[in-house]
Amino acid sequence: MELRMIEVGSTDYQSELALRYRYLRAPLGLSWSDTDLSEEPGQCHFGLFHDDTLIGCVVGRPVSQEQVHIRQMVVVPSHQQRGFGRDLLIWAEEQLIARGYASCFLNARVEAIGFYEKCGYTTIGERFIEVTIPHQRMFKQLADLPRAGST
Ligand SMILES: CC(C)(COP(=O)(O)OP(=O)(O)OC[C@H]1O[C@@H](n2cnc3c(N)ncnc32)[C@H](O)[C@@H]1OP(=O)(O)O)[C@@H](O)C(=O)NCCC(=O)NCCS
Repeated sequence: MELRMIEVGSTDYQSELALRYRYLRAPLGLSWSDTDLSEEPGQCHFGLFHDDTLIGCVVGRPVSQEQVHIRQMVVVPSHQQRGFGRDLLIWAEEQLIARGYASCFLNARVEAIGFYEKCGYTTIGERFIEVTIPHQRMFKQLADLPRAGST
């Protein structure tokens, strides 16, 4: 298995979009709009590869200098429940910490709440509907924020 960043516009990015479409969008009867993808060049794309084939991905969308919105997390069904999702997410968090981000949040599909809890996320607030299905906001502190006045 190999973990690596994906550059928007690359062949790997086309694979990422295909994976996300197949397993996250199409099952809900959703397609892409230009708006969905227009901000993606400014986001961090993380891929998990097996024999150079993409089998999982997750995207980090910076919302401030300290915080990232984690989105579009998926592992192909044939490779689920083997620890790869956690490996991918923890590695992505390490990359974000190295870039100076201190916390992240995500909107979890309710079926995936247990997975994110295993990865150290806690639920915040009430469930809500997004892309037609119930979701739960979850949060994780990645690193301590520098204290004001500290050197
Ligand atoms: C959610 C998803 C990314 C998890 O990936 P995965 O590779 O199967 O997860 P892992 O094998 O790394 O699981 C890590 C731990 O979480 C648990 N876990 C995995 N999926 C879970 C789920 N849906 N509910 C509860 N626990 C789950 C595993 O049993 C494992 O627990 P352990 O530490 O006791 O062994 C994957 O199931 C997936 O792609 N689902 C479909 C798309 C989706 O729902 N994405 C999330 C959108 S918010």
